[in-house]
Amino acid sequence: MNPSDADRGSLTVIGLGPGDPALLTGEATRALEEAEVLYGYGPYLARVPMREGQRRVESDNRQELERARAAWMDAAAGARVAVVSGGDPGVFGMAAAVCEALETGPESWRGIRLSITPGVTAMLALAARLGAPLGHDFCAISLSDNLKPWDVVEARLRAVASAGFVIALYNPISRHRPWQLGRALVVLGECLAPHTPVALGQAIGRHNESMEITQLAQVRPESANMSTCVIIGTAESRLLARGDLPPLLYTPRSMPSPSTERT
Ligand SMILES: C[S@@+](CC[C@H](N)C(=O)[O-])C[C@H]1O[C@@H](n2cnc3c(N)ncnc32)[C@H](O)[C@@H]1O
Repeated sequence: MNPSDADRGSLTVIGLGPGDPALLTGEATRALEEAEVLYGYGPYLARVPMREGQRRVESDNRQELERARAAWMDAAAGARVAVVSGGDPGVFGMAAAVCEALETGPESWRGIRLSITPGVTAMLALAARLGAPLGHDFCAISLSDNLKPWDVVEARLRAVASAGFVIALYNPISRHRPWQLGRALVVLGECLAPHTPVALGQAIGRHNESMEITQLAQVRPESANMSTCVIIGTAESRLLARGDLPPLLYTPRSMPSPSTERT
């Protein structure tokens, strides 16, 4: 670090990856070591080894904006602050909350150094376990309707399923949102064939990781929880059998053009 920077505050948003320390990037590890204070949701902070002299400020998972504002205030007071986020901080994570807090905060915060350290997001960790389900065009949709209307979620599901995207679903279900995954599956069932491959990956990269590959019509919403990422394939996605080894779920890189199919 440049010595002239030492007495200036800074804010770094750090992606912790899905859980396995081996999936934490070198840049994230360095940023965690350099921080004087860490802000985050308790279970994410618990993943970071304790360092002498480093403060920790824990908050609930629904308090992202308050956490981001507090982190900016600390950085404005001169601290080297890090905000930790699971997976990648830019994917339904703390990076956007930090930007929102900056946009609505005091003008002086805009002069504070901000860096964002990427992490392995849940859909990529799950995809790597399965094979290559995201090998063709794909998108990610959060099923949480805490910050957007449910009608928007349904309209987006219909649009992307009809357009042939592989879909990664984040935030499929929680105690406060028990019906959303079931409803999403009904909507997707109106656009996709019942045998469309679907994978549910739970706690990927953690000690209690589990996975299930099934078909759209067979998915049981109750088998998902807050730590589940769901990947919905397309008409081209397929399972590749490998004898005794687990099958690979993959989506080929190419697809026939609609005009070729007609001839
Ligand atoms: C608020 S979002 C945060 C996503 C995170 N920023 C990321 O990039 O993975 C939380 C959702 O991410 C997914 N998720 C996070 N970690 C996961 C893991 N280890 N295995 C499977 N899904 C995970 C789940 O869908 C969960 O409900």
